[in-house]
Amino acid sequence: MKRTIIITGGAGFIGSHVVRLFVNKYPDYHIINVDKLTYAGNLENLTDVENMPNYTFVKADICDFDRMLDLMKEYTVDGIIHLAAESHVDRSIKDPFTFAKTNVMGTLSLLQAAKVYWESLPEKYSGKLFYHISTDEVYGALELTAPEGIDSPFTTAASSEHHHAYGEEFFLETTKYNPHSPYSASKASSDHFVRAYHDTYGMPTIVTNCSNNYGPYQFPEKLIPLFINNIRHRKALPVYGKGENVRDWLYVVDHARAIDLIFHDGKVAETYNIGGFNEWKNIDIIKVIIKTVDRLLGNPEGHSLDLITYVTDRAGHDLRYAIDSRKLQSELGWEPSLQFEEGIEKTVRWYLDNEEWMNRITSGEYEKYYESMYKDR
Ligand code: NAD
Ligand code: TYD
Repeated sequence: MKRTIIITGGAGFIGSHVVRLFVNKYPDYHIINVDKLTYAGNLENLTDVENMPNYTFVKADICDFDRMLDLMKEYTVDGIIHLAAESHVDRSIKDPFTFAKTNVMGTLSLLQAAKVYWESLPEKYSGKLFYHISTDEVYGALELTAPEGIDSPFTTAASSEHHHAYGEEFFLETTKYNPHSPYSASKASSDHFVRAYHDTYGMPTIVTNCSNNYGPYQFPEKLIPLFINNIRHRKALPVYGKGENVRDWLYVVDHARAIDLIFHDGKVAETYNIGGFNEWKNIDIIKVIIKTVDRLLGNPEGHSLDLITYVTDRAGHDLRYAIDSRKLQSELGWEPSLQFEEGIEKTVRWYLDNEEWMNRITSGEYEKYYESMYKDR
């Protein structure tokens, strides 16, 4: 079947993996990557697919309702996978307006454009889908009821060999929203708008909430690429608070595979949680990164441990995220492809092998930003 799909935010970290997967796997689909190219958008993430006949890049802002409507008409779009967003919690603390604008108003403008266009067609919403990509952060924070870690009651192929959970509770699809940061508040608001378009206008929508992603092409303001790069350049590793916060890490390609599966087989109006049952305390994952980078650079074990620098905690820092993804596993048969130990090795290797990609981002404007972010810590 032929399809025409807009993927928003396709020049970003996760979006580039979704674009790559769809362009390669579905030669009959036309994939239109709509991206504003903010600081986080980078067309270098997609050089391997940029000349494919079923791929088109359009530089546009999702907040521009007229442009979104024109694009949907021009390309006769029947599916939307919406990833474009401001995505970094620390930036949202400094500049919440941009997050409300892009994440809330941008999502609303895209929804309304899809509504106007799809309702103008004879078949209306038949065969259409608006798929919104969200985060586990909308659920708030879980308690750390088992600070030393317990055997995880659930696993996937992504679960680490250390098999730990740091509490008995997990986020379910039914968990009440309780966002704490301007980022998660803006994502929660956009999720509500997507569901409202289903309930009010009958638009076929799906929302998924995924845990922290890691892997190639992630912008180096996020923990894992930032720390790999800092270790390489012997720069301080700023650990927020005591490093005890827990995140649930999933390899980005396994998120993209879940998005593919859900786009095709997911049930309209449903929510699916995506995560690998792979919880790590920040300080422990940081030690794994240090160990891996040192080994691959030929440094003696422990060489870079002295770079660990405890700094002022992030305001409102959520203690623990842990996703229960059993619904996706049991209903759609999703299984991650990579265990955490393999994923982290692949990721560190990728950043070390792609120094030019990193250098082009970290020189110039970004460097000034990074310094201003960290000077008062
Ligand atoms: P990213 O910051 O790497 O990329 C965001 C992309 O959106 C960039 O290419 C940027 O240019 C584009 N963009 C921003 N504002 C835009 C606008 N107004 N119009 C058009 N394009 C715009 O983000 P990411 O980490 O790849 O996250 C993608 C999505 O997945 C986001 O919606 C995020 O909330 C969600 N998510 C991320 C994670 C994670 O761990 N990174 C986890 C769960 C969910
Ligand atoms: P991050 O990659 O920003 O993702 P998120 O805040 O969306 O989970 O951060 C992951 C964790 O690492 C989070 O608990 C904050 C912490 N962190 C640091 O300790 N130091 C840093 O420099 C960064 C960027 C994050």
